[in-house]
Amino acid sequence: MALLPRAGRACLLLAVAVCLAYAFGRRADAAVKELRVGYYADTCPAAEEIVREAMARALAREPRSVASVMRLQFHDCFVNGCDGSVLMDATPTMPGEKEALSNINSLRSFEVVDQLKDAVEERCPGVVSCADIIVMAARDAVSLTGGPRWDVRLGREDSLTASQEDSDNIMPSPRANATALIRLFAGYNLSVIDLVALSGSHSIGEARCFSIMFRLYNQSGSGRPDPHMDPAYRAALHALCPLAVDQNVTAGMDATPVVFDNQYFKDLVHLRGFLNSDQTLFSDNPFTRVMVKRFSEDQDAFFRAFAEGMVKMGELQNPSKGEIRANCRVANGSPPPPLRNQVAPFRVLDF
Ligand code: HEM
Ligand SMILES: *[C@@H]1O[C@H](CO)[C@@H](O)[C@H](O)[C@H]1NC(C)=O
Ligand SMILES: *[C@@H]1O[C@H](CO)[C@@H](O)[C@H](O)[C@H]1NC(C)=O
Ligand SMILES: *[C@@H]1O[C@H](CO)[C@@H](O)[C@H](O)[C@H]1NC(C)=O
Ligand SMILES: *[C@@H]1O[C@H](CO)[C@@H](O)[C@H](O)[C@H]1NC(C)=O
Repeated sequence: MALLPRAGRACLLLAVAVCLAYAFGRRADAAVKELRVGYYADTCPAAEEIVREAMARALAREPRSVASVMRLQFHDCFVNGCDGSVLMDATPTMPGEKEALSNINSLRSFEVVDQLKDAVEERCPGVVSCADIIVMAARDAVSLTGGPRWDVRLGREDSLTASQEDSDNIMPSPRANATALIRLFAGYNLSVIDLVALSGSHSIGEARCFSIMFRLYNQSGSGRPDPHMDPAYRAALHALCPLAVDQNVTAGMDATPVVFDNQYFKDLVHLRGFLNSDQTLFSDNPFTRVMVKRFSEDQDAFFRAFAEGMVKMGELQNPSKGEIRANCRVANGSPPPPLRNQVAPFRVLDF
């Protein structure tokens, strides 16, 4: 090595680096599926249209349901990749993600995903994964409520298992601060811009009093409310969520919860964020604050960044071998669940 001229040494190092990159690159390629736009063009050309129409029907029946379905992409993709694991019902031997801390009594509209899947299966059985259906439906939820529309890259497989433990360890709490959220997203190669834009999903849908009680009455153990709240808004939240309330009571997270727009960011600037994890983006961190301000003033910029963030988040993969589930709630070859809409594995009937 010492005998080689400087240029020669550089050459050798470069060759080693290229070799390593090639070897590792190939190994990574072998593990992940290549996603592409129009993946079902030959095998189920109507898939995207079927999903969109069924989402439009769901929106007409219950406006909130499309937001609830969109949220599933986040909770699916962050836990071992976008593999439909969040949709699996628990079994006696496998706790489900549905009962994980962030999901229990909270994730909803699984019956809408069943309807999407049934509609697709009717036309092309056994072809379209539940993981892809979530990604298509999330896109449609946004465009059907006034937001941007983007191309979805498809070709995901469904997992054979779910992991409640991983969901518990990964999914962020509504108490999370900007620093923790930036770090969490960075672990998925998602930038500060992605974090702020994707948080704008809270432009549609609702959250429970349960998620803000600490913020209203005991922020950081202070015995006091979060100081970063507009007084009138705080009064409204106190009225919605008094200490003795049924904590399942819900409200929109921005002033226009059935319209996908940049109202969410305008609200944050006016200290009217619902969750601590929302308001912290404006109130606690200079980097996220700049983005919140920008999106509050420029809806197009928000829409562009949101679409980009959804695509990136949708590319998170589960490298394990999967399948195309026939029923989104169970792995193929398992007995079907006894009840639709069932959440818990066992249920005591009340007479
Ligand atoms: C940045 C970290 C995030 C945190 C801490 C967070 C937390 C939450 C919480 C606590 C709720 C309300 C749950 C309840 O009270 O039952 C909620 C609702 C919601 N989240 Fe997030 N979220 C985050 C990011 C995202 C992302 C990236 C998306 C999707 C792209 C998303 C989509 C939604 C939607 C649509 C709802 C309303 C669902 C409904 O009405 O059923 N969230 N989120
Ligand atoms: C943010 O949250 C993390 C994790 O919970 C905590 O360790 C940190 O002290 C918090 N930072 C601030 C500035 O509050
Ligand atoms: C993030 O990007 C790096 C470099 O491209 C890559 O090695 C890593 O696997 C990515 N991480 C995730 C979670 O996608
Ligand atoms: C507020 O939180 C602190 C720390 O978690 C706890 O010790 C205290 O009892 C709480 N106060 C109320 C009124 O819940
Ligand atoms: C919300 O409702 C569920 C199901 O009815 C119940 O089990 C749970 O205890 C309630 N949660 C809260 C925080 O009140």
